Amino acid sequence: MAPKSIFATSLLAAIPQACAWGTLGHTTVALIAQNFASKDTITFVQNLLNDSSATYMANVATWADSYRSTAEGKFSAPLHYIDANDSPPEICNVDFDRDCPEEGCVVSAIANYTTRVKDAKVSNVEQQKALKWIIHFLGDIHQPLHDEALEVGGNTINVTFSNTKTNLHHIWDSNMPEKLVGGYAISDAEKWSKTLIADITNGTYANETSSWLEGMNIEDAQSSAMVWATDSNAFVCSTVVPDGVDGVEGKELEGAYYDTAIPVIEMQIAKAGYRLAAWLNYIVTGEAGVGKETYGYGVHYVNRHGGVRHVRSVKVADWDVEKIEAARRVRRAWGWNCGPEGHEH
Ligand SMILES: *[C@@H]1O[C@H](CO)[C@@H](O)[C@H](O)[C@H]1NC(C)=O
Ligand SMILES: *[C@@H]1O[C@H](CO)[C@@H](O)[C@H](O)[C@H]1NC(C)=O
Ligand SMILES: *[C@@H]1O[C@H](CO)[C@@H](O)[C@H](O)[C@H]1NC(C)=O
Ligand SMILES: *[C@@H]1O[C@H](CO)[C@@H](O)[C@H](O)[C@H]1NC(C)=O
Ligand SMILES: *[C@@H]1O[C@H](CO)[C@@H](O)[C@H](O)[C@H]1NC(C)=O
Ligand SMILES: [Zn+2]
Repeated sequence: MAPKSIFATSLLAAIPQACAWGTLGHTTVALIAQNFASKDTITFVQNLLNDSSATYMANVATWADSYRSTAEGKFSAPLHYIDANDSPPEICNVDFDRDCPEEGCVVSAIANYTTRVKDAKVSNVEQQKALKWIIHFLGDIHQPLHDEALEVGGNTINVTFSNTKTNLHHIWDSNMPEKLVGGYAISDAEKWSKTLIADITNGTYANETSSWLEGMNIEDAQSSAMVWATDSNAFVCSTVVPDGVDGVEGKELEGAYYDTAIPVIEMQIAKAGYRLAAWLNYIVTGEAGVGKETYGYGVHYVNRHGGVRHVRSVKVADWDVEKIEAARRVRRAWGWNCGPEGHEH
């Protein structure tokens, strides 16, 4: 145990801090999306990124987490999440007007970069960034704690995992997916993506994938992203803190908690990849849906025409403005780079 954790600690210090799904989650989402991208989408993405390698989307999946920690990219740090000011575990919901502050959030960012990625008035370099942000943010928005204000998205809830001190946010990002898959190398992501693609195509999720595309409307990216955020945020009440903060604070979560969390993590990664492919296809071809086979599970084609469905904001009558402002002050003070240095160890 000791040599392994020393290794892990020094390795973590050497790479940019991942602030959402760690490397494993983001590259897996990208690889799933590559599988379901249409031919035109593949051409569009490979051309814009100038990368025709086998991992062309996976290669840029964590760029946004490195960029946010540069002086130039600092402004983009708040765009990786939306802090829902709901009251888990009793009430989970996301409200754009209530929860997306002036500096922006993952929902407004997805809307903005969806417009910019194909906008002829936007420079090539900025179009490229827009695409890299879309690939990353579609992943982030599927991590339930990226759609939650409570305790800075779980960052200030101390827990242990496998006897290592960490926080609740971090185990959802990294510890739990890595325990399931066994590592975070590209080969681990490839292995995991194949499993999840099979589940999508002809397994556990096959009867649900068309519902995953509901509410998608390229003319209203904000509403579309609100569907994804709301869907993800619901897991905060059901699975992330079903017994409130006291149910997890200071606890070892590798046992029963992990067992109930892992099916949600698998499904959210699968959904994120599938929705990312459908969203990129929508951007490039104007039609939602997925196609293409890569791993030999058979051609799978889903088309959802029309399907314009606006999400009605859940109006919480008594927004607690003071509580929201306090949460924002804590979030802003928390800093732009996933919290104080060394906090996670
Ligand atoms: C695209 O990539 C190739 C090598 O992979 C490089 O030689 C070329 O300069 C790149 N083009 C642009 C526009 O960046
Ligand atoms: C859209 O993105 C650009 C480039 O990152 C940024 O300068 C601009 O402020 C954003 N606009 C909105 C409305 O988020
Ligand atoms: C969580 O851990 C940090 C650092 O180890 C500590 O400063 C903080 O007081 C702890 N929070 C709680 C609620 O115990
Ligand atoms: C899908 O799964 C079923 C049973 O799990 C199997 O019989 C069938 O051959 C599979 N179809 C494909 C195309 O893989
Ligand atoms: C899909 O099938 C599983 C059981 O195989 C079931 O539990 C689930 O409710 C089904 N989902 C839908 C959307 O029909
Ligand atoms: Zn992120």
